[in-house]
Amino acid sequence: PANVGIHALEFYFPTKFVDQTELEQFDGVSAGKYTIGLGQNKMAVCDDREDINSISLTVVQNLVEKHNISFKDIGYLEVGTESIIDKSKSVKTVLMSLFEESGNHDVEGIDTKNACYGGTASVFNAVNWVESSSWDGRLALVVAADIASYAEGPARPTGGAGAVAILIGPDAPVVFDQGVRSTHMNHLWDFYKPELASEYPTVDGHFSNTCYIRSVDACYSLFTKKFSKRYGNAEKLIKVQDLDHLAFHAPNCKLVQKAFGRLAYNDMLQDPENEIYASVKEYAKFGHSEESYYDKGLERGMMQFTKADYQKKVVPSIYASTNVGNMYTASVWACLSSLLSSTPDEEIVDKRIGMFSYGSGSAATFFSLKVVASAQKFRDTLLIKDRLEKRVKVTPQIFAEHLKLREETAQLKDYNPIGDISTLAKGTYYLERIDEKFRRTYKRV
Ligand code: ACO
Repeated sequence: PANVGIHALEFYFPTKFVDQTELEQFDGVSAGKYTIGLGQNKMAVCDDREDINSISLTVVQNLVEKHNISFKDIGYLEVGTESIIDKSKSVKTVLMSLFEESGNHDVEGIDTKNACYGGTASVFNAVNWVESSSWDGRLALVVAADIASYAEGPARPTGGAGAVAILIGPDAPVVFDQGVRSTHMNHLWDFYKPELASEYPTVDGHFSNTCYIRSVDACYSLFTKKFSKRYGNAEKLIKVQDLDHLAFHAPNCKLVQKAFGRLAYNDMLQDPENEIYASVKEYAKFGHSEESYYDKGLERGMMQFTKADYQKKVVPSIYASTNVGNMYTASVWACLSSLLSSTPDEEIVDKRIGMFSYGSGSAATFFSLKVVASAQKFRDTLLIKDRLEKRVKVTPQIFAEHLKLREETAQLKDYNPIGDISTLAKGTYYLERIDEKFRRTYKRV
């Protein structure tokens, strides 16, 4: 099959959010630390009514309804998540409850895990399935979903929650470029979840930021070579200028801005004498040295150098992340949703989107997509801005109480959740009960 890519996207985020300016005051940190320092405005929050199963059920059912898809037409379904609530039973099997009525049980794929990278790995598996001899002519569906929350402390304002469903098949309007996926994986302890009874990770925050930027370097330099070899002149490496839009995994939006600056830095190291780099040439001396990852002058210099391009090429994709927070596996796909939901055809059709996915531990890939037909249906169905504006604000105190409630109840059996369901958006699944054998049941508003 040709032009394998994305036919439809659906993005779910919880209706409740906390305002980051209010959280700064509540936490007693200096004004601007979360909003300017981390680039976050609002953060989505869930009480005990939502879990990985419920947000995945919501996003799949909403996608199927909005796009009038038959469950019989889906032959592959994989879930990427790190919000593990069961060491054996996959979220995918829970989602099979939605297929029951259609009688379709012939659906390959289960769950995939590695920090924020599982969604991307699932997308690659789905693309591979469609392009393989195993393909039976039907569509593939991927769910990237997580509830991201941290223990009290500096990482807490970088939580969030969201789920993205990605419908994949041939002859799509948004096509994956072939043969250019560029991956970097290694063994690191930057962020991991060894405490199986807790939702919270063990995180070495500043180290994880550096690990992310190192992966940007490794993946992007490989990508530029692979892309040039496949699609252009191998002598002339692709550069940031050749990418029209970019979507990054967004643990916080400031890190995304730093990553974008780092792409231009990599470009400069290939061509330091080019006069366009005159204002930042002084930083070329750092090369890819250890120091280059810690020098604040270099970091700020490259952010300043790429400021206008950042507004144009990256800001449309981080709109959702700025207002929802980190969504782990869903993050980079929420960025793509944000971009496609807000960009007119004149600025997106025939354009190329560079994508960077990072999962701690670590696994990362730089890859690209091309929009080959109108993106109107993404704009008509995602409606991200409208839906974000209709959310309900909770105070930082309530936010802290919700996290405490989740901490205390996540592992219980014979439990009836107490969270208020009146704030949930129409079409949202919620946890109704965990019975005496830990079996969870859900209902939909
Ligand atoms: N006004 C404006 N900016 C401010 C202010 C202020 N009043 N106060 C601080 N800042 C800036 C700082 O200068 C810093 O910016 P810089 O890094 O560009 O210099 C930024 O705000 C953050 O301040 P720090 O003091 O560095 O923050 P802290 O150490 O408390 O925590 C961190 C930041 C490490 C990112 C923390 O939130 C964290 O651990 N997050 C989770 C880990 C994470 O997301 N890692 C990313 C990859 S892994 C993954 O995706 C999970």
